[in-house]
Amino acid sequence: MSATRGDPVVEKGLEIFRLMEAEPPAVFNKKFWAGKMMQAAMDHPELKVALFRFIDVLPTLSTSQQLSQHIKEYFLSEEFKLSGLVKGLLTGAMSGVTAGIAASLIKQNITSFSKNFIVGGNPREATPTLRKIWDEGKTFTVDLLGEAAVSEAEADTYRDLYLSVVDTLSREMASWPAQDPELERDFPRLNLSVKISSLYSRIGPLNYEDSLDQVKNRLRPIFRKVKAAGGNVLVDMETHSLKDLTLDLCLGLLDEPEFQGWEHAGIALQTYLRSAQQDVARVIEWARSGSRRITIRLVKGAYWEYEKTLAGQRGWPIPVFTVKSHTDWDYERCLERILESHPHVTLAVASHNVRSIAKALVTAEKLQVPRSRYEFQALYGMAEPIKSALKRMGHIVREYAPVGELIPGMAYLVRRLLENTSNEGFLRKKF
Ligand code: 2OP
Repeated sequence: MSATRGDPVVEKGLEIFRLMEAEPPAVFNKKFWAGKMMQAAMDHPELKVALFRFIDVLPTLSTSQQLSQHIKEYFLSEEFKLSGLVKGLLTGAMSGVTAGIAASLIKQNITSFSKNFIVGGNPREATPTLRKIWDEGKTFTVDLLGEAAVSEAEADTYRDLYLSVVDTLSREMASWPAQDPELERDFPRLNLSVKISSLYSRIGPLNYEDSLDQVKNRLRPIFRKVKAAGGNVLVDMETHSLKDLTLDLCLGLLDEPEFQGWEHAGIALQTYLRSAQQDVARVIEWARSGSRRITIRLVKGAYWEYEKTLAGQRGWPIPVFTVKSHTDWDYERCLERILESHPHVTLAVASHNVRSIAKALVTAEKLQVPRSRYEFQALYGMAEPIKSALKRMGHIVREYAPVGELIPGMAYLVRRLLENTSNEGFLRKKF
């Protein structure tokens, strides 16, 4: 792709860049520990690996002695050349006297790091931040942190949490001022995202029919409640092994008589999957042949390293594109197909990449897609300048807003760390 002036996508991209604020997103703010850690992780791939290993074991370290030992093992080798602050903090953990203090400092730092990406520990605590997003003229979709339920009791708990979040939010939001009453018909203020791996402990492709039944039984009441509250629900896409199951489940549930004609449900599709174009075609065809509407949240995919590693270990074909530009290219093809299908499909453009966003805008203009048929989504705590640019251009900006505690949120945080420290990350990449 040559970035030539005159190309409408490039022109649109430049317009977005001009509107983007100069200051770096909070996460890259060098003033705080996490920013330093991530900067260091970008510069030193070995440190990055150490960091993930560390975060992974962290919940299991119960004494400060264990903590110091792991810090020493994982981080304090000379090759990392950590900045003074980070090194000071870590070496603090090495001295017997201050081990306890260092441990609590590290915990505090990780907690404050997590606050960049998590809106609150529970729905009540999250409400002021959600209100702030709303008052800034943006919208949000609430996700409950937690995935891969380990027991049926836990899966029941997640179902109940989702149900209670719908209650809490619809009560709270009822009195919020309207933004654009016209648009609210198509984009209800209440918007929930659900991860199906939280809804059944034995979920998996080898357990297909059973997974389908069990997850449907827990998802059905959630759909029902969101529908009754006039809200919108979207099923997240997780690992490739759950992709077909997620599609069958979501479309199957929406085919049930009580959800016929309901327009406020959707599914996320990932364009790093080699199957992306077929997946998109399947959902479009489902909506078209049933004369109904569905939302597709088009993402690139957040489990790339996992998919590649897993396939490598098992000797399976790699389900994801291994070259980033293929994913980007596929993203553009998929968004064109979806926008062409706007009478039946609403597009949620969920990318932090300016080129992808510009492509969506130019395509929507070219096809004269009404504004009520597409929106932009970005993660809470990321891509702030892009959000404000899109906002200023008059588009709907929805923040993906996770609610929950630190431990169930760890996997989510690791994915955010991976994105923010990736050389392919949106900030590192020029247009
Ligand atoms: C994730 O959980 C945002 O759903 C995406 O990483």
